[in-house]
Amino acid sequence: MKKKLLALSLSLALAFSLAACGNGGSGGSDSPSGEGGVGEGKTVGIAMPTQSSERWIKDGDNMKAQLEELGYEVKLQYAEDDVQMQVSQIENFVAQQVDCLVIAAVDSGALTTVEAQAKTAGIPIIAYDRLLMDTDAVSYYASFDNKGVGTAIANYIVEAKDLEAAKAAGESYTIEFFMGSPDDNNAVLLYEGIMEVLQPYLDDGTLVCKSGRTSFDETCILRWSQEEAQKNCENYLSGFYADEDLDIACSAFDGFAYGIRSALEGAGYTDANWPLITGQDAELMAVKNIISGKQSMTIYKDTRLLADKAVGMVNAVLTGTEPEVNDTTTYDNGVKVVPSYLCTPVAVDKSNYEELLVDGGYYTAEDLAG
Ligand code: GAL
Repeated sequence: MKKKLLALSLSLALAFSLAACGNGGSGGSDSPSGEGGVGEGKTVGIAMPTQSSERWIKDGDNMKAQLEELGYEVKLQYAEDDVQMQVSQIENFVAQQVDCLVIAAVDSGALTTVEAQAKTAGIPIIAYDRLLMDTDAVSYYASFDNKGVGTAIANYIVEAKDLEAAKAAGESYTIEFFMGSPDDNNAVLLYEGIMEVLQPYLDDGTLVCKSGRTSFDETCILRWSQEEAQKNCENYLSGFYADEDLDIACSAFDGFAYGIRSALEGAGYTDANWPLITGQDAELMAVKNIISGKQSMTIYKDTRLLADKAVGMVNAVLTGTEPEVNDTTTYDNGVKVVPSYLCTPVAVDKSNYEELLVDGGYYTAEDLAG
């Protein structure tokens, strides 16, 4: 790889200062920053999936800022959920000879050719939040415990609806599922986490899915489309739920929750029969909806933390140090098990959003009031 020798000697020279922030971590005031920093003269290409959802904008901004702080030049591109556009963007990064790639894929299995090109060019790849499938060109993976997201959503439903008490009393709740994109490994793991917790209640009749659609294939929504979630919900409400209320919308994403909300309003649901609605990402609009009672919960995935872990990985591979990982067995992409750092997802609702999101500095009280 170009500049490999320089990178190696730089890494030796900087090993001591980096050790201060732990395993090549990116943050901390001990990190060399900006001009003359460890990243001086090196470029990182970041390929993000879309700007249509607020979280990816935050992810991109956070990484860019943290990498620039270390002296790296950053090229940041969004593909607007267009697979071909993302392929071209990464091809361009390879042609421009960036030193490292960070990729959150639109379609996790559609990048194998361009990933192989990057590998041939000696450019390491970090998979960001979504695992890159069917490739040996990916070095590390930074994400959240994706199955844990599913179990957290499902456990919230079990507790909020007290399904154990309902089961003992022979009562039941209706539920429908809105699962993530079939080309995103995260969506499959999330579904597995949900079903690990909820399947027994479906089996014993405490949860009743009137559409009968409980499998991943029947409930997944391509490219996490809000519009598709809304359409599905409208169809359920006018069909299976024409004579009975939907009690629980088990949604895998805040964007779905917005679509579900619109469908419910269109079908005349009010506070009196508003269902429990779950989500994921703690987007600003979702948190506002939680405050106003239109969404019950979301999963808080701190994008600052995730960016920090990914930046630490970039920094480590470019300086020849070992990145911080905490899982070396779970994330098999079909070709290799990718060493990963998994952050912990946290369930957020009305009772704890202030403590977690406002006191934690993720949003200001003004953000949430506006
Ligand atoms: C997934 C990610 C979720 C959500 C979704 C839609 O890959 O795990 O947190 O952001 O994409 O953007």
